[in-house]
Amino acid sequence: MTGREVGRPDMDARPIDRSQVKLSCRDVWKIYRDEAAPYFRTDVSASEPGALAARMRTDGAIPAAVDVSFDVHVGEIFVIMGLSGSGKSTVVRCLSRLVEPTHGEVRLDGEDLLRKSDRELIEIRRHKMGMVFQSFGLMPHLNVFDNVALPLTLQGLPVPERNERVSRVIQLVGLEGREGAFPRQLSGGQQQRVGIARSLAVEPELWFLDEPFSALDPLIRRQMQDEFLDIQQRLRKSIVFITHDFLEALRIADRMMIMRDGMAVQVGAPAELILDPADDYVAEFTEDVPMVRVLKAADVIDPSQAARDGMPREDADISVEKLLPLLARHRGGIAAMRGGAPIGVVTAASVISALAHENPHRAAGDAPQAQPRGDGPPA
Ligand SMILES: Nc1ncnc2c1ncn2[C@@H]1O[C@H](COP(=O)(O)OP(=O)(O)OP(=O)(O)O)[C@@H](O)[C@H]1O
Ligand SMILES: [Mg+2]
Repeated sequence: MTGREVGRPDMDARPIDRSQVKLSCRDVWKIYRDEAAPYFRTDVSASEPGALAARMRTDGAIPAAVDVSFDVHVGEIFVIMGLSGSGKSTVVRCLSRLVEPTHGEVRLDGEDLLRKSDRELIEIRRHKMGMVFQSFGLMPHLNVFDNVALPLTLQGLPVPERNERVSRVIQLVGLEGREGAFPRQLSGGQQQRVGIARSLAVEPELWFLDEPFSALDPLIRRQMQDEFLDIQQRLRKSIVFITHDFLEALRIADRMMIMRDGMAVQVGAPAELILDPADDYVAEFTEDVPMVRVLKAADVIDPSQAARDGMPREDADISVEKLLPLLARHRGGIAAMRGGAPIGVVTAASVISALAHENPHRAAGDAPQAQPRGDGPPA
């Protein structure tokens, strides 16, 4: 869909302030089967979360989200990764209160979501949030157009405006011409596009996608990732995206969170996780990553050098893979540029040192205990 016209100016890319927090999740716990366990009557901050979760497990409870804290910034794609059962879906459901958190705080635009009444919540979900699930969740008896129109019909949007919006998002996901088809007549990838169009139709500010592409074969999956990035380029939603697939995460994430046993093990930019994994679990995810493709000039700068006049210049976002042959020719280093100014110098040595990344979790031997990184609860 790259380059396709979408036609409405307000759907085009706008300048956004990425430092602004859209959604904030603080110390969120979800415990399934917790009826008999009054864990939160006393001050939980007094107990170490991992130890408290272990005690809950011993008692037969299921702590699916354990003291999870992170922020989603305006316009960013925030990816949640982790093995099956690590609590990804639980956390995302807590964010929209499809699952009621047992403890903690979720703030949307600074407002406490957990204090909203059922009626207010329905309004927020209908108007501000979009959700895409792995299982598509389409209505089998409705055709493509009516599936996409459904949430707008529920909103009570006037028919002409509704139809205009439905046509626009159907075009956006590349399904024009198939409006009359029923889900059973569509491929998995096409059904998922209907799911994406349906959630986009409400023009959500916050978009939750729980493994939206996992049912698709690798080729279609990659194509869907490209289209997803293309859509995001134009719409600039604040997105929480769950995936099992580290390479998928690397392609799309601005920042990501790795979960294990309900806990957030590390939050950071993809390059941070690769270069400085918090523990062996994170390091294992990143093990097979083609580093030269993922790392950019900005990630491998030599901090001891300043750019000099006459130095060759390259964009700070160029991949190390593309930089290597240039470095072979320019031994003195290359200035990495952003917004017309040099942000640092890349040399062959700085690339090698980044690739060798002297992190204890990369080397063989004992690893220290995992510590949550990134957006932790305020100290
Ligand atoms: N309704 C429920 N009742 C009891 N336990 C649940 C419920 N939903 C989830 N769990 C448990 O909570 C834990 C986290 O589940 P969750 O679905 O959040 O994992 P996930 O990371 O999304 O896994 P997957 O990658 O397989 O989708 C698991 O141990 C799961 O069995
Ligand atoms: Mg899940």
